[in-house]
Amino acid sequence: MKKVSIITVIVLGIVIWGCSDVKREPSRVYMPDMAYSRAYETYASTANLDSLGIQYTRQPVPGTIKRGELFPFAYAQDKAGDSTNYVLSKQVPNPIDSMQAVHMKEAERLYLVNCGICHGTKLDGNGPLYNAGNGPYAAAPKNLVTLDMPDGQMFYSITYGKGQMGPYGPQLSTTQRWMIINYIRAKQAEAKGGGATSTTAKAGDSTATIKAPADSTVKK
Ligand code: HEC
Repeated sequence: MKKVSIITVIVLGIVIWGCSDVKREPSRVYMPDMAYSRAYETYASTANLDSLGIQYTRQPVPGTIKRGELFPFAYAQDKAGDSTNYVLSKQVPNPIDSMQAVHMKEAERLYLVNCGICHGTKLDGNGPLYNAGNGPYAAAPKNLVTLDMPDGQMFYSITYGKGQMGPYGPQLSTTQRWMIINYIRAKQAEAKGGGATSTTAKAGDSTATIKAPADSTVKK
């Protein structure tokens, strides 16, 4: 009887001791592939993976092009404090110089999903996250209607992020990013009273074309 109660106390003690400290990280990883997913997990920390011999190849090998990539972008992200490629990207022309209304509709959808929360559904830089400075997001997003910036440089900032804005290279394909830029151009033209680039044109109407302004190809 005594033996049983001693064993019970020991077992209980081990259980309580085992539960007392919440461990989110395994202390010794015997099989890292099982502890850490090799699959990409959005926003997951990859801090200690290199030491475990797991190599995440986040960026493509320089000089290679992803299969199916239609519009490879030549400029890599600048190192902190450098803006060489940011400036050089100005001369990259928008490879999509016109879009059918059905693609414009898709570009609008992509914009609303990814950008509208900050830049606003009207592109005025006043989305619900910012809310004229009263929102939870302190940094003022750019007003995209009045933004006077060459397409290539916009592409650079959307791809690698800018200031408090995160990068959209991992989320959106190059085609999708150029499409969104065309959508922004269409809205700018609309605001100027251009009219011809309305996104409300009927689906399949190939006359709804957008021409990138001449300055997107201007050399530095
Ligand atoms: C979390 C909020 C947020 C989201 C989401 C967001 N932006 Fe921004 N964006 C900002 C802020 C803040 C700035 C101003 C950054 C600065 O100048 O420091 C900015 C700046 C920009 C600029 C100007 C960049 C430059 O080089 O000055 C462009 C273009 C832009 N955003 C486009 C987009 C597009 C397109 C999307 C969607 C794919 C998007 N943004 C999503 C917050 C956001």
